[in-house]
Amino acid sequence: MTKSFSAEKIRQDFPNLSITVHGKPLVYLDNAATTLKPQCVIDRIQQHYQKETSNVHRGVHYLSERATAEFEKVREKVRCFLNAAHSSEIIFTKGTTDSINLIAHSYGRTFLQKGDEFIISEMEHHSNIVPWQMLRDEKGIILKIIPIDDTGAYSVEDFQKLLTPRTKFVSLVYISNSLGTINPVAQIITLAHKQNIPVLIDGAQTVNHIPVDVQKLDCDFFVFSGHKLFGPTGVGVLYGKTHQLKVMPPYQGGGDMISSVTFEKTTYNVLPYKFEAGTPHIAGVIGLGAAIDYVMAIGFENIMSYEQSLLEYGTRALSKIPQLRLIGTAKHKAAILSFVHPDIHAHDLGTLVDEQGIAIRTGHHCTQPVMKHFGVPATARASLAFYNTQQDIDHLIDAIIYANTIFNQNYE
Ligand code: ALA
Repeated sequence: MTKSFSAEKIRQDFPNLSITVHGKPLVYLDNAATTLKPQCVIDRIQQHYQKETSNVHRGVHYLSERATAEFEKVREKVRCFLNAAHSSEIIFTKGTTDSINLIAHSYGRTFLQKGDEFIISEMEHHSNIVPWQMLRDEKGIILKIIPIDDTGAYSVEDFQKLLTPRTKFVSLVYISNSLGTINPVAQIITLAHKQNIPVLIDGAQTVNHIPVDVQKLDCDFFVFSGHKLFGPTGVGVLYGKTHQLKVMPPYQGGGDMISSVTFEKTTYNVLPYKFEAGTPHIAGVIGLGAAIDYVMAIGFENIMSYEQSLLEYGTRALSKIPQLRLIGTAKHKAAILSFVHPDIHAHDLGTLVDEQGIAIRTGHHCTQPVMKHFGVPATARASLAFYNTQQDIDHLIDAIIYANTIFNQNYE
């Protein structure tokens, strides 16, 4: 961590952190659901609406050209952020779910046939399960699931056991939203490519924690959402290798994705526009650009080392509460702490800690198969970002102890 890194200083960039909840200062520990937005992102969006509102790719007037230039600058920024080879490999979508659905509809419907096998894991978010189940029901593909162990991890060998000559696609989460596990996706991609199998990586929980180099990973597709990277909601990214995107048909039809239209025949636009039908979320894309600048200025070296120290601190602190069971104890983890209390349902725990001004998420986190694996209906989850502090974790611990007291009193 560089000497200049200071979480206290960073906190001042986030206006949300100065609000009070139930009369207590907000402790925000729900970053896996969405991250807070720094003032520079809010300002940039406001500036866009105040000074450069216009549609993109459609006008010759000053404002339209300016908005188009700003919009396309962000595409290049995302290219650098992911180290993609070409900015035309960056497609703006509504978010991770939209990106995965795009691939399922376009690639899946075109290239997957009845009897083809498809590998996902037991720890996928529903958005990386349901689109493929819909495709299974439509096309008759076979879903194979990499099982997780009781730490919430799987190995490359576990993946290898499912590979057969009929495997035609692999789609895996890089960092689990409910367990925090960091998966060995680079080795899996290498193995899959030995059989020419394309791999999609769900990076929704990755881009805010660790740097991503799609060329080094060599994944065929990589998807993420802006709002989990300190940017706006409603905007996301699909990265795809040129040779994959080129042969994929458009997902949606409409303006901007065409080259020419007659009633007899329509020809499609070049990449990336072929996949960007309709007016995009222009302000969202521009806000995402500001978020990327912000994160890059802090630096992943700082983010990783600071968050790992918070994760260790939080793991130790939660482990000291005898009743709690940590769910997700893999060796390689991002700063996500899921836990269950034997006597207090996660939702009750969530409500009681909320009374103390602390925001955590409770529920199945859109990963019901993970809950089933661990035999729990729900977990409480504290997910951390670089603006969280040890003091935030101390507040959470105090609030859990307070919840314990309330429930013990009720039992008497
Ligand atoms: N997928 C998001 C979460 O984990 C919403 O909370």
